Amino acid sequence: MRVLVTGAQGQVGYELLQRVPAGFTVFGYGSKELDISNADQVQAVFDEVKPELVINAAAYTAVDKAESDVERAYAVNSGGVGLLAVTAEKLGIPLLHISTDYVFSGEGDSPYTPDDATGPTGVYGLSKLAGENQLVQHCSRHIVLRTSWVFGAHGNNFVKTMLRLGSDRDSLSVVADQRGGPTSASSIADTLWALTVIFRREGMLEWGVYHFSGEPACTWYDFAREIFTQAVSTGLLEKSPVLNAIPTAEYPTPARRPMWSVLDCAKLTDTHGVASRNWVQELRLVLQQLSERPAV
Ligand SMILES: NC(=O)c1ccc[n+]([C@@H]2O[C@H](COP(=O)([O-])OP(=O)(O)OC[C@H]3O[C@@H](n4cnc5c(N)ncnc54)[C@H](OP(=O)(O)O)[C@@H]3O)[C@@H](O)[C@H]2O)c1
Repeated sequence: MRVLVTGAQGQVGYELLQRVPAGFTVFGYGSKELDISNADQVQAVFDEVKPELVINAAAYTAVDKAESDVERAYAVNSGGVGLLAVTAEKLGIPLLHISTDYVFSGEGDSPYTPDDATGPTGVYGLSKLAGENQLVQHCSRHIVLRTSWVFGAHGNNFVKTMLRLGSDRDSLSVVADQRGGPTSASSIADTLWALTVIFRREGMLEWGVYHFSGEPACTWYDFAREIFTQAVSTGLLEKSPVLNAIPTAEYPTPARRPMWSVLDCAKLTDTHGVASRNWVQELRLVLQQLSERPAV
C-alpha cells in the first residue's frame, strides 16, 4: 500500500518514517517539498505518488506566534487540511490527521471525550479546530487523532527544552497548575500505523474523531521533575536544577494555555484496540535515544 506522509520532518512525521510496518511503501514529504497550503503542490504530489492513504503530520505548531500570525496559521491548519481532504476524497482514499487538546477550553475537570464540546481559547486551537471541520466536511474516510504534549528525540519539545535549561541553570520555575498527558511522538506514529494496518486488512475503519495521549495525567512541573530524575540517572545531566512550582499567572505567554488538557482515550481502545502508553516509560526510551546519539 502506498502511503503519503506530509510534514515528514516534524516530530511525528519523522517517527512515522522510522516505523513503517512491512508491506507499505511510504512517501515522506517535508514542508520544503510539499507546502500543504499550496493547491498546485498538493495536486502535483498526489499525481506523482498516487497514494492509497494519506497521513497528515504537517501543521503550523508555533502556538504563541500564531496569535500574531493568524493568516498563516489558518492557511496551514485549516486551508491546508481542506486541500488534502478534498484531494483525498476525489480519489476515495482515507486521510488520517492529527489534532490537539487545544481545541478544548481547558475549563473541565474530567477527561475530555471526543464528543465533548470544543472551545479553543487561542488562534492555534481555533485554526486546528477549523482544520478538523474541513476534514470532516470534505473527506468521508477520515480519522482525527487528537493528542497532547508531544515529545520525542527528534525536533523541538518540552523535554529537549528542559534538558537544555537544566544544563545551563541551577534553578528553574515550571508551571504546576496545567494538567495534561505527555505523549511520545513514536507512540502517535505507532497508533497511526496501527490504524493504517487495520484499514489495509479490513478495507475500512470506524471513521471519526479519537483521542490518544500518554498516561497518567500530570502537570508540567511533574513532567519536568521526572525528566530531570531520569536525565541524571541516564547520565545526560550531572545534576538536576532546583525546581520551583509556579502558577500559570507567573508565566505569561501570548497564547492562553488550557489548564485542563486531559483526554479520555477509551474510544480508541474500545474501537481499534489501541491503548494509551505510560509516558514515564516512553520518556525513558527517548532519553536513552538522546544519550546514544546527538540530538537533532
Ligand atoms: N507538539 C505538540 O505538543 C502537539 C500537541 C498536540 C497536538 N499536536 C499536533 O501533532 C501534529 C504533529 O505535531 P509535531 O509535534 O510533530 O509538530 P512539528 O514538530 O512542529 O512538525 C510539524 C511539521 O509540519 C511542517 N509544516 C509547517 N507548515 C507546513 C506546510 N504549510 N506544509 C507542510 N508542512 C508544514 C513543519 O515544517 P517546518 O518546520 O519546515 O515549518 C514541521 O516539520 C500537529 O498536527 C500538531 O498540531 C502537537
